[in-house]
Amino acid sequence: MDQATNLRELMGKNREIRVISVASGKGGVGKSSISVNLAITMSKLGIRVLIIDADFGLANVDVMLGITTRLDLSYFLRGEKTIHEIIQQGHEGVRFISGGSGVNELINMNEDQLSELLSTIIHIDEPIDVIIMDAGAGVSNTIMQVLLASTETIVVTTGEPTSVLDAYALVKTIVKHDATHPLHVLANKCDKAIEAQNIQTGFVDVCGRHLGKNINPLGLISYNHNITASIKRQIPITVSDPHSLTSREIEVIARAILDMPSERESSGILSRVFSRVLGTKA
Ligand SMILES: Nc1ncnc2c1ncn2[C@@H]1O[C@H](COP(=O)(O)OP(=O)(O)OP(=O)(O)O)[C@@H](O)[C@H]1O
Ligand SMILES: [Mg+2]
Repeated sequence: MDQATNLRELMGKNREIRVISVASGKGGVGKSSISVNLAITMSKLGIRVLIIDADFGLANVDVMLGITTRLDLSYFLRGEKTIHEIIQQGHEGVRFISGGSGVNELINMNEDQLSELLSTIIHIDEPIDVIIMDAGAGVSNTIMQVLLASTETIVVTTGEPTSVLDAYALVKTIVKHDATHPLHVLANKCDKAIEAQNIQTGFVDVCGRHLGKNINPLGLISYNHNITASIKRQIPITVSDPHSLTSREIEVIARAILDMPSERESSGILSRVFSRVLGTKA
């Protein structure tokens, strides 16, 4: 783990690119869908985003983006292509690097290869503001290295007790390696807002009390079967249905991560400024 910690220190706190990893304890909770839709939403907000499919060897972000590519990270590992040459263009100007599917070299990377790969990614010389890394599920050493190389991690959970418990195990493992690593929690596939609220406050509270770890609650994404339909069509929901509840929920989350005021807040500020100038009441 020292190598991963060194990577973070190497990056320095003052590096301007934010590297946001998306992780979960349990699989299938929505990491890849969230990574893709967050990236597209941030891009619409004017942020230059690169998605890295860091579920090495089991990658499927390209399928979700509807991108057909042979060029994955294995070309970089073999020295056949530079990291810049394997970048693809997706929707809304989002850039993307494929983690490869069923590629043995990527599945069986050794620690040095992984460190070199992560170091290249986080130091990438491209005009980008945010890197989103879709990590695999679980607490393996590879996943820990990916998470600790990022500047912050979004832990995704659903309301299922198994998913919440696994998310807690993940947080515990991260804290063990680096107690200062910034963490957010996001509740996905929620049936009711109150359920999401309970998951978040409960989770934040338990992590605070038992691990002494402050976690930032990011909000919720409701259960929406259209997300699955959009994956089948290979068009992310934020592209195919930008006004859907899911797209709006993702925008709230993107703005929270980027620390941007919501549209309502900013228009409130604007109308107050205008009314002051015009001498009317807001
Ligand atoms: N908010 C949601 N409502 C309904 N279905 C959802 C939602 N989010 C994701 N899904 C569905 O859940 C399934 C798993 O999603 P996804 O592949 O994004 O999860 P993952 O965490 O990346 O999985 P893995 O751990 O296998 O990488 C997909 O069928 C997706 O359509
Ligand atoms: Mg996934």
